[in-house]
Amino acid sequence: MSNYVKSLSVPRTSIFVIAVLYCLVFEEHRAVEMLVIPDVLKSERTTPEFAGRVKVFGELIDHHATEEEDTMFKMARKVFSADELAQLDDDYTAWKASAQGKQIVETAMKDFAVL
Ligand SMILES: [Fe+2]
Repeated sequence: MSNYVKSLSVPRTSIFVIAVLYCLVFEEHRAVEMLVIPDVLKSERTTPEFAGRVKVFGELIDHHATEEEDTMFKMARKVFSADELAQLDDDYTAWKASAQGKQIVETAMKDFAVL
């Protein structure tokens, strides 16, 4: 267990449940990024394949956003203190400003600009 996790005031069982939820949504991200988006991008826009892939993409995003907002984020708001949530927000902001974060955001924006 990382020192960061040990430093949190959250019960270990809650950390485990949030970790499982995180892994679930991470896998959803991975499936969309590795399979669904590449297939949409390589499809000719006037084909039935494109229409079907875009429909599935939309359904996956709806499911994913609902799961994050209705389950994972609600649970995180209950188990983390305001200071811990602020720290997570600061950490995410710092990551987005890092070279790795900028590269990932730029790549995603380029992918979506094609559509
Ligand atoms: Fe997500």
